This record gives sequence, structure tokens and C-alpha cells, in this order.
Amino acid sequence: MTDLFSKFDPLIQQREALLATGVTDPFSLVMEKVLSPTVAICNGRETILLGTYNYMGMTFDEDVIAAGKDALAKFGSGTTGSRVLNGTYQGHKECEDALKEFYAMDHAMVFSTGYQANLGIISTIAGKGDYVILDIDSHASIYDGCKMGDAEIVAFRHNDVEALEKRLKRLPPEAGKLVVLEGVYSMLGDVAPLQEMVRVSKEAGAMVLVDEAHSMGFIGEHGRGVAEAQGVIDDVDFIIGTFSKSVGTVGGFCVSNHPKFEIMRLVCRPYVFTASLPPSVVATAATSIRKLMHGSNKRAHLWENSKVLHKGLRDLGFTLGTDEPQSAIIAVIMPDLERGAMMWEALLEEGLYVNLARPPATPANMTLLRCSLCAEHSSEQVGEILDRFERAGKRVGIIG
Ligand SMILES: Cc1ncc(COP(=O)(O)O)c(C=O)c1O
Repeated sequence: MTDLFSKFDPLIQQREALLATGVTDPFSLVMEKVLSPTVAICNGRETILLGTYNYMGMTFDEDVIAAGKDALAKFGSGTTGSRVLNGTYQGHKECEDALKEFYAMDHAMVFSTGYQANLGIISTIAGKGDYVILDIDSHASIYDGCKMGDAEIVAFRHNDVEALEKRLKRLPPEAGKLVVLEGVYSMLGDVAPLQEMVRVSKEAGAMVLVDEAHSMGFIGEHGRGVAEAQGVIDDVDFIIGTFSKSVGTVGGFCVSNHPKFEIMRLVCRPYVFTASLPPSVVATAATSIRKLMHGSNKRAHLWENSKVLHKGLRDLGFTLGTDEPQSAIIAVIMPDLERGAMMWEALLEEGLYVNLARPPATPANMTLLRCSLCAEHSSEQVGEILDRFERAGKRVGIIG
């Protein structure tokens, strides 16, 4: 018998070597209690959270919680069925209405996760004989959507407009083409040059899909994302998003103005062949989305936090993923996985949680400490975060 697990041996060995150094496992932390969007109890200690995707801090919003409780009481704990059978409740329609209003678009389709939204939309609209042209640093759900479909996959260098244009020009002019981009790339927190990318895509006759998972709620005047901020939202054919970040719950969606979009509900397998979201979840999502429409003060505070943290970390001597703050994600580049894990642990001991990210999820084999800010972090907390980075960085020897 061939052990099908033998392919994981290199990863198992790498993990064992890391844990043999005595460092705490960075990938199995338990949050014993969550006190607010920015504070939890981890290892018995009060810890500032700087590694969640709770950008707008909606998880403890009173209205959001009340809506969830009410729906749980009135509609029960789950739907036990697919959206196309018994799984569409009033709440799912209200959630889709909230999304249509939020994006000012004609159609909205709610999936059970953002992962499934990418999987479903990409694999369904780009079929045999079509081409998907995507940024090489695209999220796993985009790659998996491509794998699941039958289209030819063409990758181009990260955020490189010229490379995208070159690839597009090499494709048969009459072939169906879908360009897949992200607003904010989650590893380094950098923003795509969407204005230029959408222009070259349209000139080549391609449709454009933008995944705004990390920008919804925060970037753009109305929080519609990078496509809004760069003035190209009307030229984008599909926006994919998630409820697991700024919206503060779980779920995914696609919005579009395409006149035939509604057919997706019958042909998109990751929409049809899975149970729909529980009533409490769609109620919290709809309430949160409606509140995010009026979130401009929170957006301004989050930008301020992002600028202060970025400058503070740079002044302390850390190497960052971007020269300027471009989003709510600030990536601190570590020299290697071992020192990255040591720094992660030192920060946790200081009472600060960040995300440790390592290859293959990261570009260019980098080990990163990814900090994601929340609109509910107070200015005092941001100051405290910088103090903790300084102490931990000196202790581990990352900064002098
Ligand atoms: C760019 C991007 N797209 C999609 C997803 C998937 O979202 P979800 O957590 O809702 O499955 C993520 C989540 O990490 C993401 O970063």
C-alpha cells in the first residue's frame, strides 16, 4: 500500500523542526474568550487583537447582535437546505437587497462563504474554450475556482498592468475572457491598479471580476471597495465579496449588473449543492451591511489607525510590505520562518495577537507578521501595539 499521506512528509518535518525549538504552535491558538472586536483572552491573558479581518468592528455591534438573536428565535437555527429548494428565507432576500443597495447594482447572490462565491462564479462563467487571466498572487479560492472550471488559465505578474496587457493581446480575439483581480491583496496589503487594469481588460474585450474581500466596508467613499475608490466600479462586471471580514459574520456574495445574471442561481454548483446560511447569519449580515453604508466616520478612523501604525513600525526599524499604508493590512516582513515564529510568540507574550503567514500562502517565499487593523482600535491601543512591537522586536533581535 502506498501511504497517501507521504506527500505531506516535508511539511510534517518542517513543522516538527519548528516546534522542537520550543516555540508555541502559531497555527493552533485558542481564543478562550472574546471581549470585544479588539480584545480577547488567549492563554489566560488579555490580548489586543491585531490579526482578525474584523476591519469595521461589526462583530459586537448591538444592532447586529439583536438582529441575529431575533432571527434565531423566529426562524430557527438553520435552513437545512439549498437556496434553490427549501433554503431561501425572507432573510436571504433581505440580505441580497441590502447588498444591491450597498453596491447600487441590479443583482446580488449570497453564497455560504466567499470561498464558494469565487469557486462558483469563476468555474461557472468561464468554461471550455474560454480564458481566465489572473494575477499570480490571487487567493486560493480564485485558483480553485479556475481548477474547477474548464477554461484555460493565464497568470500574469502581480499588479503588473503591462504583463496583463501582453497576455491579453496573445489570446484569440474571439475567445471569451475573464480577468480576475483583487482590490486589496491580503498578504502584503497592497492595492491593485484597477483603473488601468480594467481599461486594458475592456480594450481586449474581456469581462472583469474583482474580489473586494479585504476592501469592502473600508475603501471607497461608500465602502464599496477599490473599484469605487479608483472610479471604475461601473466597468466591473462582477464583484465578489465575503461577510467574514468587514461584515463581521460568515458568508459570501457576488453582485453584478449583467442582465442575465439571475441564471447563475440554477447553474452554479457551489450555490445549488450546499445548504444556505442560517437565518441568524443572514440577519446579522444584512444589518451590518446597512450600517456600513453609513460608516464614513469609522472609515476615517481606520485610515488614521493604519497610517499611525505603518509610520510607527517603519520608524522602529521594521521592514514593511508596502512603502505607504494602502489598506487596513500592514505586513511586517520577517527574515525567516523560525524568527517569524519567535517574534509571533514574543508578541503574544506581550499580549498582542497578529497573524503569522508563511509560504505557500505568501508571495516570494516570505514569512510575514500580518497586522490587520480595526476601526474599533482606539488611538491608545495603537500606541500600545507599537510599544509591544518595540519590546518584542528588541527581545528577538529583529530590530536594534
Ligand atoms: C481575497 C479573498 N477572497 C475570498 C476569501 C474567502 O472568503 P471566506 O472567508 O468568506 O470564505 C478570502 C478569505 O480569506 C480572501 O482573502
